Amino acid sequence: MTQRKGIILAGGSGTRLWPITMGVSKQLLPVYDKPMIYYPLSALMLAGIREIAIITTPEDQVQFQRLMGDGSQWGLSFTWIIQPKPEGLAQAYVLAEDFLAGSPSLMVLGDNIFFGHGLPQMLARADAKPNGGTVFGYRVADPERYGVVDFDNQGNVRAIIEKPVVAPSHYAVTGLYCLDATAPQKAREISPSARGELEIVSLLEMYLAEGTLSVETMGRGYAWLDTGTHESLLDAGNFVRTLELRQGLLIGSPDEIAFKTGWITAAQLTARAKQFGKNAYGHSLAALYKTP
Ligand code: DAU
Repeated sequence: MTQRKGIILAGGSGTRLWPITMGVSKQLLPVYDKPMIYYPLSALMLAGIREIAIITTPEDQVQFQRLMGDGSQWGLSFTWIIQPKPEGLAQAYVLAEDFLAGSPSLMVLGDNIFFGHGLPQMLARADAKPNGGTVFGYRVADPERYGVVDFDNQGNVRAIIEKPVVAPSHYAVTGLYCLDATAPQKAREISPSARGELEIVSLLEMYLAEGTLSVETMGRGYAWLDTGTHESLLDAGNFVRTLELRQGLLIGSPDEIAFKTGWITAAQLTARAKQFGKNAYGHSLAALYKTP
């Protein structure tokens, strides 16, 4: 069992999805049949992580708590942390320093959706690395919208560049950061960028300079879905719908993962299924203990 703790960064202003996100946090929006945050939470659970800090804006925290409580319904333990202002992804490590208390971490952005055969194994490989960090590169058609990996001729990582005008490769850095226990201390040394943020690339550059950053590329068999625009949010919902209807299985369900991992009992799952009894999500949960 991993000693790594999880962080979900679910703050931010969500301006790219205004007016929808003027009244509700982006990470609470539906992606087909579940709130968006269920998907990144599922990724942490698939990595075997049970102690998780959830970072939100001050205004939105109460809604997230109403949705997710203390995590015990999934055999998890949640610590709730407020980010007063969206001052950068790397600030999460400063805010979570007490929670981490010297543990390594796996941080996921609350709007990132991962899907693919072998995801738990890929996360386990990153978890097994005692020092340094691992980030995950994913080929996209429009790398300029993301942090992008710059590889040298030998395929070694030379730099990671945030939203470059001309992208050095097609590999975006996904919002999943597996870092060792030194991340909070490093994050405290970062100076705010011109846009006033503690940039995640600045933190990754520190690991690169130490020679301890690995970039693992996720192959084409994985889906890393974007929820950053109205179109991509709808596409993500349709992707989940298509697979769930075809297979009759859930994608990104903390209830299913908790049950299959043995973190909750059949009785607990049954209680959850009853709660959602009238809809397909509840029916899928009920089916879990009836059919393999
Ligand atoms: O999704 C992967 C990308 O995420 C990476 O490729 C980029 O390197 C990384 O910077 C980030 O890019 P975004 O353009 O998506 O960053 P954004 O500022 O939109 O923030 C990402 C999520 O984190 C978003 O859901 C809001 C949340 N957030 C953001 C900031 C700046 C916070 O919770 N707090 C913050 O301070």
